[in-house]
Amino acid sequence: MRKNIVAGNWKMNKTLQEGVALATDLKNLLADAKPNCEVIIGTPFIHLATVAELVKDSCIKVSAENCADKESGAYTGEVSAAMVASTGAEYCIIGHSERRAYYHEDYDILREKVQLALAHGLKPIFCIGEVKEEREAGKQNEVVKAQLEGSLFNLSAEDFGKIVLAYEPVWAIGTGLTATPEQAQEIHAYIRGLVAEKYGQAVADDCSILYGGSCKGSNAKGLFANPDIDGGLIGGASLKAADFKEIIDAF
Ligand code: PGA
Repeated sequence: MRKNIVAGNWKMNKTLQEGVALATDLKNLLADAKPNCEVIIGTPFIHLATVAELVKDSCIKVSAENCADKESGAYTGEVSAAMVASTGAEYCIIGHSERRAYYHEDYDILREKVQLALAHGLKPIFCIGEVKEEREAGKQNEVVKAQLEGSLFNLSAEDFGKIVLAYEPVWAIGTGLTATPEQAQEIHAYIRGLVAEKYGQAVADDCSILYGGSCKGSNAKGLFANPDIDGGLIGGASLKAADFKEIIDAF
């Protein structure tokens, strides 16, 4: 069954102590009112083990924001999927547009990361989405199709079933511009159609497709009300427990 999910992406914010305080606040806020969706917090590597331990008896799950494209060895500064999994994290964000743009992560690198994450029992939250010029040229469908084919459609149906997709139009990330619910629904339905073509309708129906890009308490309800929008990947509004809770409450 397809899950509704609200996932935070802290990006490069919060010291260890600040991150622990934020996770504690969120845990307390959610303790009384059980959310109607899965709640995930995506944190920098340094927080993972501490935060995973902190939330282990709660409804909150933990995600990394990245993992290495190599199994192990002499890759100074990298963190492998096995290391991420050993912290207690269950998810791993892969293919965020910031990683694609600033760290030159191409389809091949992302395909490796997805395979390593799956091999170590992590569920990838795989991000796709077009930049502003591509949207203006009406190429958004082409772009997300190439991103799926380039990094995911080599997977077996069984492995694809472990993937959460996040459609994040790059022009909406951190800009305050949000895709309208109609724009988002249209491309989410297109993405689900691509998954159905490749893996069949049952796999497509089970696949959670999150929207990301300036999603906040005030627009979450309108977005999540659409049949193909199964939640959100939240950057800025995940940095305060009350703001994040407002989005969770949209379900
Ligand atoms: P934003 O970021 O909510 O701050 O726009 C979303 C994301 O990049 O995942």
